[in-house]
Amino acid sequence: MAKQDYKQLLNELDRDKLPKHIGFIMDGNGRWAKKRNKPHLYGHRAGVKSLRQVVELGVELKLQYLTFYAFSTENWSRPESEVKGLLWLLKDQLKKEIPELMEQNIYAQFIGTSIGLEKNYWNEVSSLVAQTHKNTGMIVNFAFNYGGRLEIIEGFKKFMSMNPDKWDKLTPEDFGNYLWTAGQPDPDLIIRTSGEKRLSNFLLWQSAYAEIYITETLWPDFDKTEMIKALLDYASRDRRFGGRKE
Ligand code: IPE
Ligand code: IPE
Ligand code: MG
Repeated sequence: MAKQDYKQLLNELDRDKLPKHIGFIMDGNGRWAKKRNKPHLYGHRAGVKSLRQVVELGVELKLQYLTFYAFSTENWSRPESEVKGLLWLLKDQLKKEIPELMEQNIYAQFIGTSIGLEKNYWNEVSSLVAQTHKNTGMIVNFAFNYGGRLEIIEGFKKFMSMNPDKWDKLTPEDFGNYLWTAGQPDPDLIIRTSGEKRLSNFLLWQSAYAEIYITETLWPDFDKTEMIKALLDYASRDRRFGGRKE
């Protein structure tokens, strides 16, 4: 079957039922490369195209927040050559994409820790994203050197240092303000590619009531058509948040 044109599918999408915030667990790059007898990094490089397509569609649909899981705190356990390649790829691509981010009025930022990264590297990538910080359009978070558990612990420490005498006043409603996603709505939808059915330490606190969409498609094959399929599926969900309709 010929690949469906995404514009055709787009007609079926009810624009009132779009998520505000979508998180992407971009998985399957290695398997995609392996199928082609190529090294793992070849898959990571191919995955950049998917990310671009998703961002483009996000702009077309006027989505407000996208979060991409780019490198986890657990990914340091991979071979050194892969880790180095990934870090280089991230910086290199970011540099290349800045003009487009500016053109599209996109605010880009990192959520994650600088722990383990060289100071120069961290400064360089931070100043790259800072160039977008006057933009007022879609917000794109790169979860980079990110771990959900670390974010929660760091959030708790932040709360304690800012409110040393009020530790017993901390509420679930307030706690989000101490996380790296402070001020942003929780993700409505988490999309994971490559068929794995787990969160892998992604947005643990924020995804309490997120709808989860898992596709067998490997990340480098994920495109606008695949994304609209996920959005159509999301639009058909009945989100109850623990309640019950009369
Ligand atoms: C996901 O692809 C991207 C990152 C973790 C950075 P993988 O590298 O995990 O690909 P698979 O899961 O081995 O196919
Ligand atoms: C999750 O993918 C991390 C990113 C997509 C950056 P992994 O491939 O690292 O997750 P596991 O190891 O399969 O859980
Ligand atoms: Mg993986």
